[in-house]
Amino acid sequence: NPILPVDALRRPLRDLRLSVIEACNFRCPYCMPADQIAEDHGLDAASRLSFDEIETLVRGFVRLGVSKLRLTGGEPLLRKRLPELVARLAAIEGIDDLALTTNGSLLAKQAAALRDAGLRRLTVSLDALDPGVFRALSGGRGEVADVLAGIAAAEEAGFAPIKLNCVVQRGVNDDQALPLVERFRGSGHIVRFIEYMDVGTCNGWDATRVVPSAELRDRIHARWPLRPLDPNYRGEVASRYAFEDGQGEVGFVSSVSAPFCGDCHRARVSAEGKLYTCLFAGEGRDLRPMLARGEIAFSEHVAELWSRRADRYSELRGAAGVSRKHVEMYLIGG
Ligand code: GTP
Ligand code: 5AD
Ligand code: SF4
Ligand code: SF4
Repeated sequence: NPILPVDALRRPLRDLRLSVIEACNFRCPYCMPADQIAEDHGLDAASRLSFDEIETLVRGFVRLGVSKLRLTGGEPLLRKRLPELVARLAAIEGIDDLALTTNGSLLAKQAAALRDAGLRRLTVSLDALDPGVFRALSGGRGEVADVLAGIAAAEEAGFAPIKLNCVVQRGVNDDQALPLVERFRGSGHIVRFIEYMDVGTCNGWDATRVVPSAELRDRIHARWPLRPLDPNYRGEVASRYAFEDGQGEVGFVSSVSAPFCGDCHRARVSAEGKLYTCLFAGEGRDLRPMLARGEIAFSEHVAELWSRRADRYSELRGAAGVSRKHVEMYLIGG
């Protein structure tokens, strides 16, 4: 294998998060507030990379050391013929881990087809169990019952464990944390609590709404004692804790209170083919022209871009001179 680039902070490229669509059927206020995002946002199918382009892109990234691929959105299950794309990507030699992050609302119908196509890991966003709180957090578009049915269908299709992501906001859904733990403890699935982040520019982020993971962990520990676990792999985003009574584990993603940029091996590509070297990047780099020149020329171009990367936004947050202009979350899938 030719070039394995490292960036300006000596971080290799291992992990690709690829958005397959910029549309979403939800309007979570922390991501796509309905009063700011047009109803028809993301419906221009022609602007998206084709399956052929995506396959070339992924092959190019594999040449650079990527073995882990996560499909995201918007809501990836809105992309037409998604199982066909999954099958093509699952067949690429060098992709050892193929995962997808979804809001789960359309999962009941698609879980089996995705599994059959070769998808191996699934993460479902689940911010609340209470139907009213859930509805509000989806911008009035989603029903928690549909997501729970999606999780059940995914279980049935053979996904295990399923990761369940809850973005916690103080005074909004922090009262949902214990019920979520109670519901999924012992199920084999893994609930993960994510600190509310200042991604994008349209969600009016406010630091007082962040619940630091340590606080949440203490609250859970008081009810169901926890002990720390080692990471599954270097640079794992979530820190893991096991229930002392053997009923599984929970995770915490603490990008505000405990940034993890030092081990960040992730590149993100939007549905229209722009490369973002950080979740908080202001601008992406259009990869499409280079894609047209084939896998090898493409990978050389990306290697060059990666070698100049110096992003570490979460470690610099709030410092003087750090730009507050960030790409919107729904364009790069978190
Ligand atoms: P695993 O492969 O299962 O470890 O998945 P993951 O935890 O990397 O992916 P997931 O999509 O579940 O991400 C969980 C949360 O962490 C999401 O809210 C992401 O936005 C956030 N996250 C993932 N990667 C990064 C990152 O590089 N920086 C920051 N600040 N947040 C991240
Ligand atoms: N802060 C933290 N997580 C967020 N997500 C979306 N917006 C934010 C935010 N502002 C989460 C989604 C999903 C994951 C991909 O990113 O809820 O779980
Ligand atoms: Fe859609 Fe996910 Fe953003 Fe919610 S967080 S609006 S489900 S892309
Ligand atoms: Fe990586 Fe940027 Fe997140 Fe830091 S803030 S971990 S550099 S994506």
